Amino acid sequence: MRLAIIGGTGVKREQLLSEVKDKTIRTPFGEAHVLEGRVGATDVLFLSRHGAGHKLPPHAINYRANIWALREMGCQAIVATAAVGSLRTAWEPGTFVIVDSFLDFTHGRASTFFTGEDGRVVHQDMTYPYCETLRNILLHAARQQQAPVREHGCYVCTNGPRYETAAEVRAFALLGGDIVGMTGIPEVVLARELGLCYATVALVTNLGAGLQPNRLMHQDVETLMRQSAPVLTTILENSIPAIAQTECHSC
Ligand code: HPA
Repeated sequence: MRLAIIGGTGVKREQLLSEVKDKTIRTPFGEAHVLEGRVGATDVLFLSRHGAGHKLPPHAINYRANIWALREMGCQAIVATAAVGSLRTAWEPGTFVIVDSFLDFTHGRASTFFTGEDGRVVHQDMTYPYCETLRNILLHAARQQQAPVREHGCYVCTNGPRYETAAEVRAFALLGGDIVGMTGIPEVVLARELGLCYATVALVTNLGAGLQPNRLMHQDVETLMRQSAPVLTTILENSIPAIAQTECHSC
């Protein structure tokens, strides 16, 4: 499958790609900036979620343009990375999570391709939003690195850009959430609407608000991402050839 990496906070093109070409893709939803490059011997697309220089906050990302552009470029599978807070003290910073479900607390985002403007009403199945084929490949690669990894995890998506209150973190955990971030939705939803395989490898960068004594700082998130970047990069590098060679008949 032709695949794309969507790099979240702390994942940089230089860590992963060689022979890079910048492309600007026009879509019905606006422009997207996609890189074409190689990881080892495999051609991949790369999209930096927050844009060059980490300038776009989570609610301002043009998720529809991004996913549409990747599909236009022939992408069939997307592996996304995500920096997340943990809702459980046992899921410590440095833990990888191969996400398998989500709870959506976003609002005001353009979160569907099925707007009804074409006179069609479409309800997309979302029972199991993340591709099992990709999840298994990522899990295998993480275990090979002997990285601390959780095979299952429910991602709570908040609107941000603020972090949560301690009460929200307690509530999200009671609802069944395991980790919290700000960008997973609508990305996965849009990929499902276009029939693309999509998986997220999340990295716990901090305990959620109130689970640790300190206030949350974006700098701390970046510091942990920097420390874990080599392992994350290796997980991606080792997954990419396997994804390129595989087929999925479920998504
Ligand atoms: N909350 C929301 N998003 C995040 C967090 C968090 O604690 N850490 C990294 N991204």
